[in-house]
Amino acid sequence: MIGVLVSGTGTNLQALLDARLPVLAVASNRRDAPALARAGAIPTRAFEAADYPERRDRDGAMADWLRSHGVRLVVLAGYMHLLTPPFLERFPNAVVNVHPSLLPEFPGARAVEEQLAAGVRESGATVHLVDEGVDSGPVLAQERLPVLDDDTPETLHARIKEIEHRLLPRVVEELCAR
Ligand code: GRF
Repeated sequence: MIGVLVSGTGTNLQALLDARLPVLAVASNRRDAPALARAGAIPTRAFEAADYPERRDRDGAMADWLRSHGVRLVVLAGYMHLLTPPFLERFPNAVVNVHPSLLPEFPGARAVEEQLAAGVRESGATVHLVDEGVDSGPVLAQERLPVLDDDTPETLHARIKEIEHRLLPRVVEELCAR
């Protein structure tokens, strides 16, 4: 019953697949997203914004495609575009995202760099319900980790991702069981 949206490397998609969760379809806003190659036999499709008159048209088409594959729960696993109402209205309270900070602190695409620049001593990962805002929906689960003195964006993000790869499949499994 799960559809996954990806834009990047797809390690969180891999974690969902490794947990043997029922992923029925994988979509991306980028044809060249490396994550798509992880889907194997699962249907994939790219919905590039440039191919549609407006973002909401793209989002409506993407929602239709996911629904046609039986998707009931959508997981954003490194999906880098905001979703518009034509998408969110098709999946009420059924779109979740994973983010590399302790939301509501440090939303946005540069969360890891911004946490280091701010000198925080603690970071973490958040899984939350998605609304129209930037990483702003209700938090479902969070796990913390210490920031080390010699952390770089790469080392910190790698440790956060280790948490994400445990936390996201766990929350998704719980939502599937609802
Ligand atoms: C993760 O850190 C996730 O929290 C953020 O984007 C990154 C995606 O990584 N939203 P990957 O593509 O799953 O490897």
